[in-house]
Amino acid sequence: MSDPQKVLAARVQAALGQAFGEPDVDPAIRPSQFADFQANVALALAKKLGRKPRDIAAELVERLDVADVCEKVEISGPGFVNLTLRNEWIAGRAQLMHGDDRLSVEPTATPQTTVVEYSSPNVAKEMHVGHLRTTIVGDAIARVLEFLGHNVIRDNHLGDWGTQYGMLIEHLLDVGEDSDEGMLLETDPNSFYQAARARYDADEEFAGRARRRLVSLQAGDPETMRHWQRLVDLSKVYLHTVYGRLGVTLTDDDIRGESFYNDMLGDTADELAADGIATISDGALCVFPPGFTGRDGGPLPVIIRKSDGGYNYSTSDLATVRYRVDKLTVDRMIYVVGSQQSLHFQMLFAVARMAGWLPDGVRAEHAQIGSVLGSDGKIFRTRSGKSIKLTELLDEAVERAGAAFDDVPHDEPFDEVSRRAVVEAVGIGAVKYADLSVARDSEYVFDFDRMISFRGNTGPYLQYATARIRSIFRKGGVAPEEALGPIAIGHDAERALALHLLGFGSALETAAEAAEPHRLCAYLFDLASAYTTFYENCPVLKAPDEETRASRLALCALTLHTLSKGLELLGVTTPERM
Ligand code: ARG
Repeated sequence: MSDPQKVLAARVQAALGQAFGEPDVDPAIRPSQFADFQANVALALAKKLGRKPRDIAAELVERLDVADVCEKVEISGPGFVNLTLRNEWIAGRAQLMHGDDRLSVEPTATPQTTVVEYSSPNVAKEMHVGHLRTTIVGDAIARVLEFLGHNVIRDNHLGDWGTQYGMLIEHLLDVGEDSDEGMLLETDPNSFYQAARARYDADEEFAGRARRRLVSLQAGDPETMRHWQRLVDLSKVYLHTVYGRLGVTLTDDDIRGESFYNDMLGDTADELAADGIATISDGALCVFPPGFTGRDGGPLPVIIRKSDGGYNYSTSDLATVRYRVDKLTVDRMIYVVGSQQSLHFQMLFAVARMAGWLPDGVRAEHAQIGSVLGSDGKIFRTRSGKSIKLTELLDEAVERAGAAFDDVPHDEPFDEVSRRAVVEAVGIGAVKYADLSVARDSEYVFDFDRMISFRGNTGPYLQYATARIRSIFRKGGVAPEEALGPIAIGHDAERALALHLLGFGSALETAAEAAEPHRLCAYLFDLASAYTTFYENCPVLKAPDEETRASRLALCALTLHTLSKGLELLGVTTPERM
């Protein structure tokens, strides 16, 4: 165990057990202004035992065995226990972390089978910036959980079923599957969709065919299913272009779209009816989960089967819950989806619990994603009001990254090929990090200038920080892997940096527990700042003596390793040289 907060918690708990027979109370270890940490447990425990907090603190300190870890233990105020770590302990732990591929992050002792559902765009539609954000945030959540040793099932809940498919299939057949217009599905799905839509609205004959086609589709007519599959396959090509460019880990095997659950809908509805959970209201089969009311104060329904016999988005999601719980035996489900769907998920989980399909032991979470806004404060769109084409957005990011890149100093000149590779990484990294670094449920304004800046909590800043560290090693003629230390702590800035490095595992756990990648971003940004202070105060290559130089190089290497690993888990690449 390297995380000081955890080490101290374990020691304090042992003392609480011995002194008061209370080994399970939360020791409440917090960072402190007056020491490295403080244990606040005495106040809560005093209340529980009906004694004075200072007396509790005194007895706790008497039993506390931290001589190897702490240099100083002091009681302050009403009963805080201030804990100051030994420099040698910090250095020793940093050294262990440095020698470990996993940076002292042990795989969890309680691995959970976790579905991370993300991206989930709709077939034959352009992904919009909202889908972009769920894709990026979801991918980071999946990567972090996986690194911590959980069994992650990535799940791309593609919108590949619904009433629009009759129209889309007919249009594809009319233009020809291999025609230029058919190929639009691979490159510009919105244009394809809009063309089909326009015909549907204007051409009665076409609309009639589309409706008949939908009936055959719903009846599972083999020929129609084949056309439908073709439509989905062409759309997957488009998705892969986007995922590939973003470096997102989703593959075809992760796609389990709405259509996958189609033949489970009937049973789902029938069982709800048979158990008396769903009732007929206005001809539709509905569940009224308690506690949900509409604007008029009346109970709000989840419609399971419409009066025309058709099923709903919610029915499909209920079948999905059952499948994941029964077949995938999940412990946790994280739905990374826009916050507009918050009510849908609250009601979905409520109904699934009522039906007994979602047992208490299974966590179901809607990881809400806030909207991305334009500078006008409205949903981000092009000037003409159309939704943004994702590929064009990424192109622009890369182009602007090029200009920003040429503005920062480089050690050596770049040839055109390597410059292009770096600029692509910076542009894409900037867009991704912008989505990741703000709390995922908050809205933010899409701003190229801010996200591509080499200053502040941005992707380019952190990428540049790693490249600067690498450049020290190039200048010094050593490889980071060869900088073995030993790490020793002489300067305050070294101490602060090493202490921050030891918090890496906790930062990952916090991010994973809350499904909030921005916590990892904040940790990495603070780490880069601690490094900058260190670098400004502690000469590395020109250190006063050999031991100091070796120690500082090791701290640089450990910082580099931690920053790159953290960024990798966020899905942001780190160019070797910038
Ligand atoms: N395809 C939906 C959309 O684009 C998102 C699906 C979310 N996931 C779910 N299980 N309902 O809005």
